[in-house]
Amino acid sequence: MKSTYILAIESSCDETSVSIIKDGHEEIATVVLTQIDIHKLFGGVVPEVASRHHIENITIVIEECLHKANMTIEQVDAIAVTYGPGLIGSLLIGVQAAKTLAYLYQKPLIPVHHIAGHIYANNLVEEMKFPLIALVVSGGHTELMYMKEDYSFEKIGGTLDDAVGEAYDKVARVIGLPYPGGPAVDKLAHQGKDTYHLPLPLDDDSYDFSFSGLKSAVINLSHNEQQRGNEIRKEDLACSFQNRVVEILAKKTMKALKEFGVDRLIVAGGVAANQGLRERLQTLCEQENIHLIIPPMKYCTDNAAMIGAAGYFAYQLGIRGDLTLNAKATGELKK
Ligand code: KG4
Ligand code: ZN
Repeated sequence: MKSTYILAIESSCDETSVSIIKDGHEEIATVVLTQIDIHKLFGGVVPEVASRHHIENITIVIEECLHKANMTIEQVDAIAVTYGPGLIGSLLIGVQAAKTLAYLYQKPLIPVHHIAGHIYANNLVEEMKFPLIALVVSGGHTELMYMKEDYSFEKIGGTLDDAVGEAYDKVARVIGLPYPGGPAVDKLAHQGKDTYHLPLPLDDDSYDFSFSGLKSAVINLSHNEQQRGNEIRKEDLACSFQNRVVEILAKKTMKALKEFGVDRLIVAGGVAANQGLRERLQTLCEQENIHLIIPPMKYCTDNAAMIGAAGYFAYQLGIRGDLTLNAKATGELKK
């Protein structure tokens, strides 16, 4: 059977990325240009600055990816692009570039939801089999999904307030760690002990999450100690915070696997890079005989390879965009 090559573009936040993926699982080439060092100066992503950098870099990154793959655009079967959710100004650059390529080279255009991309990053590790439970944990999302088959996404629970990555970034800022906060808190947590009394957030029977209370508890604790003139033991606070986050994520995920009678779990999104979460899920899944896939670090945070993997399955299902395709800042992932 003839192979299908998808050229994918991702520009939803502060990474300009282009990738070529063969048959939804084989990475031919990927280029990721991150703006982290630029946004670090501001303590977080500045949307206007991000989109300006995407404009400057998008054509260079496309050319570099084709060069790395040793391919021409004519050899590509379709163009996939993240249309949302994300920063609107950033998304627009990727969508416009994809539409231009699709029009100029007469290629099908495939719109991909950013979270579908994070989920299909797992297919770059090994072929995803169904049914499965997906735990999606990123800077903008915290969701549990039931997938009966390819490209079928049933949300069974999600955060009622902050996304888990957002809580990590906020806590990092409070304890004086640089952007992006997640990896910094994770690293520090491994040097500390779980000594601070923090609540286990939304420990109920639902599949929903809530992280704003836990985040506020960390902020209040930190301020109170400062007012009393006490030093915060940063590594212990990071460890206590991370343990609560990991415990509730793992608890509700394992419950979902049991109640849905599913023995396959995939983890997706930037927070899937978290060492504490990876270790905890590995242990629990071994105990419960659950087949676990967690992408390697490079596929956890934003990249176009995952969009190319998801784009392949969307392409097979006949999902197409046309030149009216627009970027969307918000919107849930639906079947
Ligand atoms: O998926 P992603 O790259 O962007 C979104 O789609 O949101 O996720 C970024 C988020 C940030 O909040 C970042 O702090 C968090 O993922 N993150 C981590 C780790 N690495 C990245 N959070 C906890 N531990 C990590 N090791
Ligand atoms: Zn993401």
